[in-house]
Amino acid sequence: MARDDTDLTRRTAVATAVIGGVLASAPAKSTKPQSDNPTSLSFPSLPRGVDTTHRVAAGHTAQVLLRWGDPVFADAPALAPGAMTAAAQGRQFGTDCDFIHFAPLPMGSDNSDHGLLCVNHESAFAQLMFAGAERRLNLDLPPAAVDVQMAAHGHTVVEIRRDGEQWSVVRDSRYNRRITALDTAMTLTGPAAGHDRLKTSADPTGRTVIGTISNCAGGATPWGTVLIAEENFHQYFGGDPTGTPEERNHRDLYGITSELYYNWFLHHPRFNVEAEPHEPNRFGWMVEIDPYDPASTPKKRTALGRIKHEGAGLTVNRDGRLVAYMGDDEAFQFIYRFVSTGRVKTADRSANDALLDEGTLSVARFDDGGRLTWLPLVWGQGPLTAANGFGSQADVLIEPRRAAALLGATPMDRPEEIEPNPVTGSVFVCLTKNGDRDAGQVDAANPRARNVHGHVLELIPPAGADGPDHAAAAFDWRPFLMGGDPADPTSGAMAHAESGPDDWLSCPDNIAFDPRGRAWLSTDGAEDFATADGLWAADVTGPGRALARKIFSCPQGAELTGPCFTPDGRNLFVSVQHPAEGSTYARPSTRWPDFQDDLPPRSSVVVIRKSDGSPVG
Ligand code: FEO
Ligand code: CA
Ligand code: CA
Ligand code: CA
Repeated sequence: MARDDTDLTRRTAVATAVIGGVLASAPAKSTKPQSDNPTSLSFPSLPRGVDTTHRVAAGHTAQVLLRWGDPVFADAPALAPGAMTAAAQGRQFGTDCDFIHFAPLPMGSDNSDHGLLCVNHESAFAQLMFAGAERRLNLDLPPAAVDVQMAAHGHTVVEIRRDGEQWSVVRDSRYNRRITALDTAMTLTGPAAGHDRLKTSADPTGRTVIGTISNCAGGATPWGTVLIAEENFHQYFGGDPTGTPEERNHRDLYGITSELYYNWFLHHPRFNVEAEPHEPNRFGWMVEIDPYDPASTPKKRTALGRIKHEGAGLTVNRDGRLVAYMGDDEAFQFIYRFVSTGRVKTADRSANDALLDEGTLSVARFDDGGRLTWLPLVWGQGPLTAANGFGSQADVLIEPRRAAALLGATPMDRPEEIEPNPVTGSVFVCLTKNGDRDAGQVDAANPRARNVHGHVLELIPPAGADGPDHAAAAFDWRPFLMGGDPADPTSGAMAHAESGPDDWLSCPDNIAFDPRGRAWLSTDGAEDFATADGLWAADVTGPGRALARKIFSCPQGAELTGPCFTPDGRNLFVSVQHPAEGSTYARPSTRWPDFQDDLPPRSSVVVIRKSDGSPVG
């Protein structure tokens, strides 16, 4: 069904009037005369293609701020390729930067020139870290190198400030901190904490875990903490789960040993599921970190469920309850929502501590006709009983995938980041791709078989005079865009009618909103379609809705992650993750960002600014 831009604009402005799903059948068509620039964006897309270095769109600058191995403390050593130690890595910026949050200083201000940069480190692949390693899984990797990998994971908090056009790191800041998989103690909180299935020989209480892994995206709470995701935890566990009490959970539900990327289990027995069958149950959570208190203990919040968490998109509902939207990033997995029981208190920061421990976790069922129903994952209700192996709410939270399937949730095309738009109140969902969906498995929300380009959906909570109701039992939904080349009639792409050959994208992963509510979409997989991964921006309302423009292009092999604006919209932080992926330390396809023969390619945080100092875009 074609529609003109006026129609599109009106529908966007009056969100509750939208009938979702209408656009899925055909591209949006414009009946307006071709204009030079129907969007609010000031720049043309970067040209398609793959390069050894990064590119930024006209009128903007890009500064490489923090590289893998950069000292995070005044007394930390510089990266020493070929001579790395876990002790040094534990005081340096980690590998494979992902989620970024800018926490202003002082706390509670909207300062955009000085703050704490909070950054995840998702992975540490041997073949790009160590000479001689040829692939991600290197079973011969010695214990010292394993510990370097573990120290390279986790999270960094580092104070930064802007002086003119240049940002710099404050290395002697009291806030600076590394959180790692190797030696950072964390507590488990919420309904599953202390459950027998979380107990190990090292932790008979089931309440204390060393480390966090596969920290992909995240979210920021209104009280100044960050929630970081534990995503592909299955890649870290070896051994054979067959015959253990967790066989079904580990092998069938979460795919442990199906995709092993690390040999940690050979040197740290807790990563061997035969020795410690409960250890994997202590990963796959959302972890809360307080960047303003470097002595604080990170908390794994079990009320938010154990899945392959991409991240958490947080908002305060109109009634004051905290709402978190979360994707489980695997083909045919689900979209979740957590609604706190209590209400956010702005006056007393510590009064919010229990908010992420008590609430209702639900999972989404997308119905034809543009409706969506949230199905509560509550023990004792419907099929979530002892008859199906759920002895308590803890069992539901340890295996929400199984509970969600029993409830009839909709299997999605790999849900990545989900983010509420603070300006429009609707919720955007990145579905990165799913090449395994066949023609018999398509539905309204996942309408393409062999969906190699991915798509973005817009979920629309019911509106009211006091704002959208993010806690409502049912929403509307509609597509925002379908990835791929709209000029190719076989692609099933849905893009703005004035999308040019450089404007279309594939494999959306992260999404952020600038202060105007425009969407900033990062990609992971565009190189399969002959262009570098990067960052695209698009209006979400008005005549330029879903007309994407590419502002940043990654160096070869890298995906873009972590887009994050300062409150004034004048600084856009992005993570360039795993440059030179697909090649090796000995023969990297690029040595970005240093281009020195004695330095490996390094994942880095980049700051994008507009050349005239006005807001980015
Ligand atoms: Fe770590 Fe789903 O990207
Ligand atoms: Ca990644
Ligand atoms: Ca991601
Ligand atoms: Ca991804």
